[in-house]
Amino acid sequence: MPTKDKILVIGSSGQIGTELVQNLREIYGIDGVIASDVKVTEQAKDGPFEVIDVMNASALLEIVKRHQVTEIYLLAALLSATAEKMPKFGWDLNMQGLFNVLDLAKEKIIKKVYWPSSIAVFGPNTPKVDTPQYTIMEPSTVYGISKQAGERWCEYYFNKYNVDVRSLRYPGLIGWKSAPGGGTTDYAVHIFHEALKTGKYECFLSENTTLPMMHMEDAINATIGIMQADASKVKIRSSYNLGGFSFSPKEIAAEIQKHIPNFSISYNPDSRQQIADSWPQSINDEYARKDWGWNPKYDLKSLTINMLENLKKNYQ
Ligand code: SER
Repeated sequence: MPTKDKILVIGSSGQIGTELVQNLREIYGIDGVIASDVKVTEQAKDGPFEVIDVMNASALLEIVKRHQVTEIYLLAALLSATAEKMPKFGWDLNMQGLFNVLDLAKEKIIKKVYWPSSIAVFGPNTPKVDTPQYTIMEPSTVYGISKQAGERWCEYYFNKYNVDVRSLRYPGLIGWKSAPGGGTTDYAVHIFHEALKTGKYECFLSENTTLPMMHMEDAINATIGIMQADASKVKIRSSYNLGGFSFSPKEIAAEIQKHIPNFSISYNPDSRQQIADSWPQSINDEYARKDWGWNPKYDLKSLTINMLENLKKNYQ
């Protein structure tokens, strides 16, 4: 087995992967990180890139061996809103992809796995405010069911096969470098683009729908942070609660109006409202803070300034 870390990011052209690959390459070098997605994307210009369908275990094995991969970040998944439209495929992709990667670690072909979970593991019976790490879950979406089952499998592979798997329950993620794809929290990215482009936004969630959110930069730091933490510090092998801050569409609109006074928002809730209503409003992440030193940087105010400053170049 090679001694140098060689990283494979699967689903690298998505919202998280786009930024994660850039950050990992700053640490491990361009050639230390292989980006991969189901089809060739612009990212292929920036460094090593492979087309991988994570459902295809033998093709995945071939690429892992060829590049002598030691760690996999598995980001390929259908998110909450998309998985509701194709439940069976959502389940198959989210679960089979995870098994294919966990099995590579079980066979000791790779050393470490990162797999994201989500606030979607919680459900309508979960306490909504300051949601604890250990609580009633009962997710009601296909995405949430797959993430909850995945968490159980991660912990099982750790306990039974000593697989070094690490995971975070992300809240809604907001960044300016990449576009979200198929989630219920996507509005919190779209709103910034529309504010700068047209000065108005029609939100698919109702005005007082409070959800936990986080700046992508914090999420990437958490991801790399938990992966680089000493194994003894990663005590939870299902998935860690990760909190940032919380807001409703009305509150983020008010924050944007401080910078763009004429910005207006209207509300037209669709099927995503029901998903949002089943999720927590805020997250208690004391275990992540205590175990491996999680500490987010952004709040709503600083996130809004950061998003508007970086995105305004696109619309001038
Ligand atoms: N942002 C995700 C979604 O909305 C939550 O994990 O699906």
